[in-house]
Amino acid sequence: MSQSELVSLFPEAGSIPADSALDFPIQQTEYLVGGTIRTWKGPFQEIVSPVQTRSNGSISRTVIGSVPELTAEAAFVALEAASAAYDRGRGQWPTMSVGERIRHMEDFTRRLKERRDEVIRLIMWEIAKTRNDATKEFDRTVDYIVATIEALKDLDRDSSRFMIQEGIIGQVRRSPLGIVLCMGPYNYPLNETFATLIPALIMGNTCILKPPKYGVLLYKPLLEAFKEAFPSGVINVIYGDGQTIITPIMESGRIDVLAFIGSSEVADILKKGHPHPHRLKGVLGMGAKNAGIVLAGAEIDQAVKECLLGSLSYNGQRCTALKILFVHKSIVDIFIERYLEALAELKPGMPWEDGVGITPLPVEDMPDYLDELVKDAVAKGAKVINPGGGERAGSMFRPAVLYPVNESMRVYHEEQFGPVVPIVPFDDLDHPVRYVYDSRFGQQVSLFGTDANVLAVLVDPMVNQVSRVNINSQCQRGPDTFPFTGRKGSAEGTLSVTDALRSFSIRTLVAAKKNDLNDSIITDIVHDHKSNFLSTDFIL
Ligand code: G3H
Repeated sequence: MSQSELVSLFPEAGSIPADSALDFPIQQTEYLVGGTIRTWKGPFQEIVSPVQTRSNGSISRTVIGSVPELTAEAAFVALEAASAAYDRGRGQWPTMSVGERIRHMEDFTRRLKERRDEVIRLIMWEIAKTRNDATKEFDRTVDYIVATIEALKDLDRDSSRFMIQEGIIGQVRRSPLGIVLCMGPYNYPLNETFATLIPALIMGNTCILKPPKYGVLLYKPLLEAFKEAFPSGVINVIYGDGQTIITPIMESGRIDVLAFIGSSEVADILKKGHPHPHRLKGVLGMGAKNAGIVLAGAEIDQAVKECLLGSLSYNGQRCTALKILFVHKSIVDIFIERYLEALAELKPGMPWEDGVGITPLPVEDMPDYLDELVKDAVAKGAKVINPGGGERAGSMFRPAVLYPVNESMRVYHEEQFGPVVPIVPFDDLDHPVRYVYDSRFGQQVSLFGTDANVLAVLVDPMVNQVSRVNINSQCQRGPDTFPFTGRKGSAEGTLSVTDALRSFSIRTLVAAKKNDLNDSIITDIVHDHKSNFLSTDFIL
């Protein structure tokens, strides 16, 4: 496919199918603070779609709207609102019964589902995720909320009893931590933001949410749902430049939990800004450079299928993507031949087209960066081995498979987060094993092989270097009930339906020496439902 063919993939104005068209520009003036949808009158930030517009054989940027660019002062009002709603733990939300909080969350879920079509359309336009994947992202998020509610009911049932040990009566529950700052990534702008926001809210924390840079307009239809479903100030949604609005919020020292999914560099800056790091809890999902290791004797077709999915689904823009493939020399030729055959079937195009696998990239300077990585590898002896690999037109970048890659090349070390696939041949298993051990990241690894003895010998030490070892399967986050985390520079804290509830809360207890007076006080409180904490109420 030539460059002009890549250009021809972009749509002409007015040629978008009705079920995917977006009525733009969307000039968003609203933001949500303290239970009020406010109108911003200051500067705005332009939102540019990766779906560019074609006209007379050339392509241009498609501006699909704008969002408020708040000042630090305006962002501070959100901090005040979240702080007032928490009210040092005395607020309505943190002291509310779990059952009532669940009702608010169920109300929000109903409202969220009503905006399904709009949100999916915006995911396609803002980050060029295929319709299929955008739909999955939305539905997976709803399922995650439902599963979180069920998990909280379970947790609450387990806590609805008193323990008596060594003459002390106690009730243990999980309590909120305070004010949570939630920031998700652009590749899962809804799902991964909600993966922290939902557990943070439902455990009784109050939140400030800043949508990611790309995937921001999709929060506009949700502002009303947030406002209606939750008490004032429990959820505040702010927009703008991170350095302007987030840095001062962190520097205020009033954030209790930083829930951030993005790069480790930004996570470090944010954490360092907090004047009392010991009081700040981090729930962080950061970088990864997950390796796929294809052993001698691996089942080639299965390995190819998983490696292709792992390296190129959503153009490789997943933190869990396989970002480097080590293939044993004895099978590297056949592996490459089959990989390239499978890659040739991946159709590039626009997110709404049926069967599309490669779509435009939302980060504007990403094609330049990927091009640099390819040129660096080629200058150091690798070849782009797929026809047309690395060709680009605007935001479209045709996947480039690089072979043979070695450690002198940047792509061997850097997290490319895009459609560049480095393949490293190896003789000695120590080579890929050392790679995993020396990496500054420690999220996951995929091992492809058929010999149970070799796999077993690899699994035992690998589980102490990464947080998930996948056998003959690509790396991935799901199912969402499985723990998702990482070691080293990849993560802090664990997410999953149940783990996230723990991450955003702390075990707290009320205890009393057992005697007639204390027995009678506790009985009185419980019997007359005087407390939401000291209670044996059971949520069914
Ligand atoms: O970007 C990182 C995501 O958590 C990956 O999730 O494996 O479900 O695509 P996924």
